[in-house]
Amino acid sequence: MAEQIFPGVYKKGEKLFTKGKNLEDWNHYKSKPAAAILNGLQNFPIKKGQIILYLGAAHGTTISHFSDIVSDRGLLYGVEVSNRVIPKLLEKIKKKKNIVPMLEDARFPENYGWIGKVDLIYEDIAQRDQVSILKRNKVFLKENGIIVIALKAKAIDSVREVKEIYKEAIKELNEDFEIIEAIDLEPYEHDHLFIVGKLK
Ligand SMILES: C[S@@+](CC[C@H](N)C(=O)[O-])C[C@H]1O[C@@H](n2cnc3c(N)ncnc32)[C@H](O)[C@@H]1O
Repeated sequence: MAEQIFPGVYKKGEKLFTKGKNLEDWNHYKSKPAAAILNGLQNFPIKKGQIILYLGAAHGTTISHFSDIVSDRGLLYGVEVSNRVIPKLLEKIKKKKNIVPMLEDARFPENYGWIGKVDLIYEDIAQRDQVSILKRNKVFLKENGIIVIALKAKAIDSVREVKEIYKEAIKELNEDFEIIEAIDLEPYEHDHLFIVGKLK
């Protein structure tokens, strides 16, 4: 029997699941929030009924699990810049009624200003300017809104010390957000820090 460890998240042995039609295997090597949970994340921020802006939807792996967790009472806007990836995203989420896929560049939030306010922004885009892109999108957050970033140090700087990059990114995030928790994703993802914060 799988045990529920957060609302909508289940664990059996070292394996995680979300509940769609059935229990869906949430692979911690392919999805960073799952890796963060196995590494001891205490403040799992994704909740039933939330409206989420998801930056970097890619092939739809993680956003599909978020879709299970927020349930049909919630909604996800999935932003993805690569038109090469979009067909795979559409195929993966075709049965999900609570995901709105968007071919957009997260650097230009003014192009999707119509989405209105959201409870949470999740960002996983592996760009040099990933922190400033997230900050630019904070205009969508409701009061006390939550941010989650899967920070990829090597995308910011491929030569500098990873710990130094984390420290600087946290300092930059701190200008706008109160950091709630930061979890290193080793050994599942190298040089990634999973950060949860709240709009100041
Ligand atoms: C590491 S993958 C995301 C994986 C995905 N979050 C998951 O766990 O299933 C990063 C994705 O971000 C997209 N991306 C990069 N820069 C972007 C931007 N400026 N706006 C939107 N998407 C971007 C890439 O095309 C790529 O598909």
